[in-house]
Amino acid sequence: MQKVAVIGAGLMGTGIAQTVAQAGIDAILCDVDIAIADKARAKIEKQLGRMVEKEKISAADAEAALARIVTTADYAPMAEADMVIEAATEREEIKRKIFASVGEVLRADAVLASNTSSIPITRMAAASPDPARFVGVHFFNPVPVMKLVEVIPGLATSAETVAKVKAFAVQIGKTVVEAGDEPGFIVNRILVPMLNEAAFVLGQGTGSVADIDQGCRLGLSHPMGPLELADFIGLDTCLEIVNVLFESTGDPKYRPAPILRKYVEAGWLGRKSGRGFYDYSGPEPVPTR
Ligand code: 3HC
Repeated sequence: MQKVAVIGAGLMGTGIAQTVAQAGIDAILCDVDIAIADKARAKIEKQLGRMVEKEKISAADAEAALARIVTTADYAPMAEADMVIEAATEREEIKRKIFASVGEVLRADAVLASNTSSIPITRMAAASPDPARFVGVHFFNPVPVMKLVEVIPGLATSAETVAKVKAFAVQIGKTVVEAGDEPGFIVNRILVPMLNEAAFVLGQGTGSVADIDQGCRLGLSHPMGPLELADFIGLDTCLEIVNVLFESTGDPKYRPAPILRKYVEAGWLGRKSGRGFYDYSGPEPVPTR
């Protein structure tokens, strides 16, 4: 691929655009608000600067990567893209509107992909310009660091589309696993119930925040404890995914932990809101229980 458009300049979209540009592919970073897209580009510039300081990349490479990223609030430039990746808010009606707008400009041989973590690909494909060219590509946060991309074909996704997206993931230095179009795909289906269980363990007083996280970091060699990771992902996102698992399967093993629901209701969403299982207002995160 030579040119990839990313719609949504949030955490994931920004990380995807950075990774794409660093792999030598031109990136169009689009957001409804151009100021958000420009801010995301500035964040990428800062991140690339840090990599130069750590001597992980050269200043010339950082400059070239940044120069490959153009920002827009307009769909017209996507007419040149080989692939458009939707990484907008996890709300189906918003995504459907985006697919309709992309459909007006998408090239006849271009792929439309969604970075959804929980909405069925087959259902969204039905609302896309061409279900055969629609596919799920699930990235992990932080995108420039995490090696995995899950590729999720919908019922109507063509083999050619799957092959193109897998080749793209390899082109940007990622490893692919192919997952079925079932709630949570592979990784979140396993991860999110574990994070939810950690919230149950906390709520039942079996362990403190610090001990639960220390237990999993040292006992399982996980880079982050489950509560730290839930805060990192966003407690609202965790709750949303566990609710999707619960509602779509009807299996009570996926019922959300009361403390998780309460924290989200309180607006304690993790790192992004300054408080979750940890308090982020000081120089170091402080466990809250
Ligand atoms: N962009 C680019 N690079 C980043 C980065 C970012 N946002 N954040 C960290 N890095 C780089 C750092 O520069 C550093 O590189 P170096 O070691 O070569 O100097 C490296 O990553 C390690 O970072 P730090 O030293 O700052 O911190 P840690 O060693 O504590 O690692 C971490 C941070 C990589 C986030 C690590 O704790 C980790 O892997 N945590 C687990 C993350 C995880 O599980 N993510 C998946 C979440 S699930 C998901 O995304 C799916 C969704 O649908 C819910």
